[in-house]
Amino acid sequence: MKYRAIKGVRDLLPPEVNLWQEVESLTRRFFASYGYREMRPPVMEFTEVFSRSIGETTDIVEKEMYTFHDRAGRSITLRPEGTAPVVRAYIQNHLYTLPSPQKYYYIGPMFRYERPQKGRLRQFHQIGVEAFGEKDPRMDAEMLDMLRGFLERAGIEGLTFEVNSIGCEVCRPAYREALLGFLGEELGSLCPDCLRRYRVNPLRVLDCKAEGCRSLRERAPRIGEYLCTGCAGHFEALRGHLDALRIPFRVNQAMVRGLDYYRRTIFEVTSEALGSQDAVAAGGRYDRLVEEFGGPPTPALGFAIGMERLVMLIMERRGVKEPVPEVYFVTIGKEAEALSFRLASEMRGRGVWVELDYSGASLRSQLRKADRHGARYAFIIGEEEISAGVVRYKRLSDGEQGEVRIEGIYRFLGVE
Ligand code: HAM
Repeated sequence: MKYRAIKGVRDLLPPEVNLWQEVESLTRRFFASYGYREMRPPVMEFTEVFSRSIGETTDIVEKEMYTFHDRAGRSITLRPEGTAPVVRAYIQNHLYTLPSPQKYYYIGPMFRYERPQKGRLRQFHQIGVEAFGEKDPRMDAEMLDMLRGFLERAGIEGLTFEVNSIGCEVCRPAYREALLGFLGEELGSLCPDCLRRYRVNPLRVLDCKAEGCRSLRERAPRIGEYLCTGCAGHFEALRGHLDALRIPFRVNQAMVRGLDYYRRTIFEVTSEALGSQDAVAAGGRYDRLVEEFGGPPTPALGFAIGMERLVMLIMERRGVKEPVPEVYFVTIGKEAEALSFRLASEMRGRGVWVELDYSGASLRSQLRKADRHGARYAFIIGEEEISAGVVRYKRLSDGEQGEVRIEGIYRFLGVE
């Protein structure tokens, strides 16, 4: 074979794609009741949109972006995530002039040059939401409530919701000092990347996957002990609201997330059924990002669900049912062919899935093909049926046979 798809990128084929469509239509229906509307930002942006928001010293920006120069020499990046483009679009289109909160969702491909493995791809897909203009912790709880409800309706169980607060500009400096002090004593355990970047961005060490860095996580100072009054109050209120909505959650003080734009609330939803890439969704607040991008001060928050992982969980629970044709026409003779050709067009117009057989093969062979297609009914037409004005049907699941008058086909199929 001459060509293969790029590593870490895959074709989405039927019947799995049916599940994707189901998930997408659930997204549209379910998020609408929380006031979210769809936005479709482009899949590429100027590189700075990502490097300035996700953070120059994060894994995503340092190692994982698909960045290239266009013909005019500008640096362009295929989006590794959706928050930065939505924030850019929010400001560029003056969406802050609309009544707040403004709530948007998006569905689409993201690109990260990561090492491919189960549940980790280089082109993957996210369902993301972003809400602008509300700082109240009830908004954080509402968002987690929406995520919980969505995953429940998608039929997924056994999920763990973890939340944490990583503070803000007020409380981070003191924490940073404490963390730097701690890491300074442990330089021998840091991986080369963290050794290089720990002074610029010590929080990143806590998100590093390398063995040595991970082992420090348990003993490292906890941000929770350094939160300022504002952040501590926000986090406490959020926990109360989550209890009120009966959302089972765990505070994970070691969680920091891999993107720099977060302030205060961060969260992750994991499933043991996914293996090592266990996060099905994640998000948090980014109250400063709109302002940093040149917009008015605007508190904001969001999350993204990994669609491949979500679909994997659904497949594991209930598999995929392949849709089948309702009717497969089996015809003998030119006249029957012409009649079925016309009937099929009418029936399809009414939304019935009909397959025709153009092979001119024997009755037996056409019936075998009807079976292979998994059709519900074979509609058989020959000379006798034409003169009687009927079609003979055979229900392929149990072989039951009979006749229907041509005018009665729609009643027979229940689509009158
Ligand atoms: P993230 O944690 O980088 O956050 O990604 C969110 C989800 O996308 C992950 O939990 C995972 O399910 C999925 N995901 C990430 N990378 C891959 C990959 N290589 N292959 C398959 N699935 C993957 C964000 O992207 C933030 N923009 C979320 C957010 C929105 N925060 C605020 N608003």
